[in-house]
Amino acid sequence: MRAIQVKQYVKGPSELTVSELPDPIPAADEYLVAIHASATNFFDLLQIQGKYQLQPPLPWVAGFEFAGTILQTPQATKSRSPRFAVGDRVFGAGQGGYATKTTAKEGFLRPIPQGWDFVDAAGLFVTAPTSYAALVTRADIKRGDYVLVHAAAGGVGLAAVQIAKALGAVVIATASTPAKLDIAKSYGADHVVCYHSSQNHRKAGSPPSPSTPSQPKSSALSTTSSKKPSKPKRNEPSWPDEVLSLTPSRRGVDIVFDPVGLITPSLKCTAWNGRLVVVGFAAGAIEKVAMNRVLLKNVSVTGLHWGQYARHEPQTVETVWRELFKLMESGKFKGTAFKPGIVSEGKGKGEGEGDKASSTPSPSSISKKNDDGKEEVPYVGLNSIPEALRALGARETWGKVVVRVPQDDDAQTPQGVKSKL
Ligand SMILES: NC(=O)c1ccc[n+]([C@@H]2O[C@H](COP(=O)([O-])OP(=O)(O)OC[C@H]3O[C@@H](n4cnc5c(N)ncnc54)[C@H](OP(=O)(O)O)[C@@H]3O)[C@@H](O)[C@H]2O)c1
Repeated sequence: MRAIQVKQYVKGPSELTVSELPDPIPAADEYLVAIHASATNFFDLLQIQGKYQLQPPLPWVAGFEFAGTILQTPQATKSRSPRFAVGDRVFGAGQGGYATKTTAKEGFLRPIPQGWDFVDAAGLFVTAPTSYAALVTRADIKRGDYVLVHAAAGGVGLAAVQIAKALGAVVIATASTPAKLDIAKSYGADHVVCYHSSQNHRKAGSPPSPSTPSQPKSSALSTTSSKKPSKPKRNEPSWPDEVLSLTPSRRGVDIVFDPVGLITPSLKCTAWNGRLVVVGFAAGAIEKVAMNRVLLKNVSVTGLHWGQYARHEPQTVETVWRELFKLMESGKFKGTAFKPGIVSEGKGKGEGEGDKASSTPSPSSISKKNDDGKEEVPYVGLNSIPEALRALGARETWGKVVVRVPQDDDAQTPQGVKSKL
C-alpha cells in the first residue's frame, strides 16, 4: 500500500512524504479496508509534530478519519458474525487514515449513509458525534435555545450549526472572515458575527435590533432586564456585544459551543442558566476562566471529550450515532467537505452578498467535476495531504478538508490538484 508514514516528528506538514509500505495485516477481530477518501483533522497537525496527547510509538502512519470499502472481514465466531461484508461501503477512524489501506475493529466503522459519497462520509466519524454530543449530551439543547457556535465554518463548527438548527435552536455563528460567515449561513446559521479583530460583521440585509428579537423567549428568561448596549472597553473584543444584541432583550445565548478557546469573552454574552461547552483550543492557548463569572451568571461550563465515550459510556456512542443517522436520512445533516467552487457558484450567495462571495479564500478556477458529476475536492492523492494540512492550519479552508484517495495512488501528480488557497 501507499501511506504517509511518520518515522520521526516533523516541523510541519510540508516534510511529510508518501512511501510504499507492506499492506497492513488485520488482527482476528479486524477488517481490512481500501481507503477512498481521508479527512484531515486539526489534531493530525499536532500529532505529526509530537504535540498531541496520543502519540503512537514511531514509526506510525498518520491520519485518522477515512471512508472506503471492505476488502476482508474478521472470521465469524460462534457468538458473532461480522456486521459488514466484503465490498460494503464504510466510514471510520483509526490511526493510519493517510494510506490506501487500513485495518479497523467493527466499533470504529459505520455504514456510509444512503446517498452519501466517500468524500463527505470520510469527515463524519470524529466530527459529527463530537458536535452532537456537545450540544445534546453536554449542553442539553432545547427547541428555541439561542446557540452561539464559534468557528462555525470549521469542521466541528459547521456540524454544530446544522445539528443546532435541526433541533430547533436559533444559531448565532462566528467566524473570522465574511466568506466563512457566508458558509455558516449557507448551512443554516440564523445570524453571523465576525469575531476577527475589531471588524465585527453582522448578518447582511437584516441588522439585528435589541427591541425586535428574531424569536421571543419564555417569560422566565425574559424577566432579565433589557440591558442597554455598552461600549466594549479598550482591547476588549466587540463581538460579545453584537451577540447580546441578537438575543431577546439582550439576555444572552443559552449555549456556547467553543472549539477555539473563547469561554471568557463568551461569558459576557451568555444568559442566566447558560451552558458553555469546551470543545477545543484551535487558537492554541488554554484559557484560565474567572470563576466568579460562572457563579454570578449561574452558568455551567462543561467539557466534551468525545474519543473517551467509547471507553466510559459506549451506550452513549450508540445513542448519538442513532440520532445522527436520523438527521442524515432526513436531509437535515449534510456533508461539509471543503469544495472551493461552492461559494462562488451560489451557495451562500444572495442577499446582496456577491461582493463578499468574491472574497472567499478559495478560487473557483480550481473547481472541477469528478466522475459522478459532483464537484471535485481540491485535494486528490496522498501526495496532496501536506498541502491540505497546511491550508487547514492556515485557516484557508472551511468544513472538512478531505483528500480523495485513488487506489492507484501512485498515478497521481506529485502535488495532487494544484490549488492557490
Ligand atoms: N473535544 C473533542 O472531543 C474534540 C473532537 C474533535 C475536535 N476537537 C477540537 O476542536 C477544535 C476544532 O477542530 P476542527 O476539526 O473543527 O478544526 P478546523 O476545521 O481546523 O476548524 C478550526 C477553526 O478554528 C478557528 N480558529 C480560530 N483561531 C484559530 C487559530 N489560531 N488557528 C487555527 N484555527 C483557528 C478557524 O476558524 P476561523 O478562521 O473562522 O476563526 C478554524 O476554521 C480543535 O482544537 C480540535 O482538536 C475536539
